[in-house]
Amino acid sequence: MTDAKTSEHEKSMRRVRGFYQISAQREWERLEHPTQGALEFAINKAWIQKFLPESGARILDIGGGPGRYSIWLAAQGYRVTLADLSPDLLAIAREKASEGGVELEDVVEVNAVDLSQFAEDSFDAILCLGPMYHLLEESDREAVAGEVFRVLKPVGHAFVAFLNHLSALRAVVNQDIPFFTPYTFDIVKHWHHDHVMDFPVAGIFSPAWVVHPRDVPPLMERHGFRTVELVSSQSVAGDVQGHLALFAERQPELYRWVIDELVKLANDPTIIGSAWHLLYIGRKP
Ligand SMILES: C[S@@+](CC[C@H](N)C(=O)[O-])C[C@H]1O[C@@H](n2cnc3c(N)ncnc32)[C@H](O)[C@@H]1O
Repeated sequence: MTDAKTSEHEKSMRRVRGFYQISAQREWERLEHPTQGALEFAINKAWIQKFLPESGARILDIGGGPGRYSIWLAAQGYRVTLADLSPDLLAIAREKASEGGVELEDVVEVNAVDLSQFAEDSFDAILCLGPMYHLLEESDREAVAGEVFRVLKPVGHAFVAFLNHLSALRAVVNQDIPFFTPYTFDIVKHWHHDHVMDFPVAGIFSPAWVVHPRDVPPLMERHGFRTVELVSSQSVAGDVQGHLALFAERQPELYRWVIDELVKLANDPTIIGSAWHLLYIGRKP
């Protein structure tokens, strides 16, 4: 990287760290929140579980943040290395793992663009649920795809999260999101046309890159991955999570059935475009 690029990259990483510093607790709560992340967590876990190696295998959770996935995996007997850019989220992960009586093999501060501290072919599976969409430079995203491929063992699976470009316009008309006011019209246009979601107001979200679903497999395949699945982490229900939460409370049996059906539908090519988050599953051939 040139000096100018390095300092731009560092500035951008400082913004990511800064965002998660002020929202660390919220980030821990997100995946259990009925209208924010519970559906994504249920669908991602179901799809990741299908491709996991034998218990006891080594898994890297890069961008694992406060550790929800790492703790879930370690509780199943995997040897998990949780790596993340944010020291505040790593501190929460250490605390929550210990409260849950779960041991993480390692918890380290790492930037996903450079995994040189890990040797080639080190991990049986890799989760990368966060770094891709926080990297605004294409060369950085390419670096992450290459590094994940390098440190993954042959025939291992990688699970990589992306934000869907097609949700920008839906977000504008989604009345449940309070921060879309006329004041943010330019922000929405930037998001929709330039694929960059950037809120100048602290605490909403750190700047993020969004991608059209059709561009995800080629990005990963350029680095050697064989595409196995592309999944909508909200299936078809991303816009009705409030209703799902009511179901969960009032009709738990029906809720469980609905979730099972949403999981089954989640890789249907006709609904991938309705995702908020995309889960790419690729194999090292
Ligand atoms: C929305 S959170 C997701 C956390 C967790 N993986 C999950 O799915 O709940 C995004 C995470 O990616 C991390 N992250 C962003 N850019 C990163 C980078 N370049 N290297 C490592 N971690 C990064 C953030 O610190 C944060 O923990």
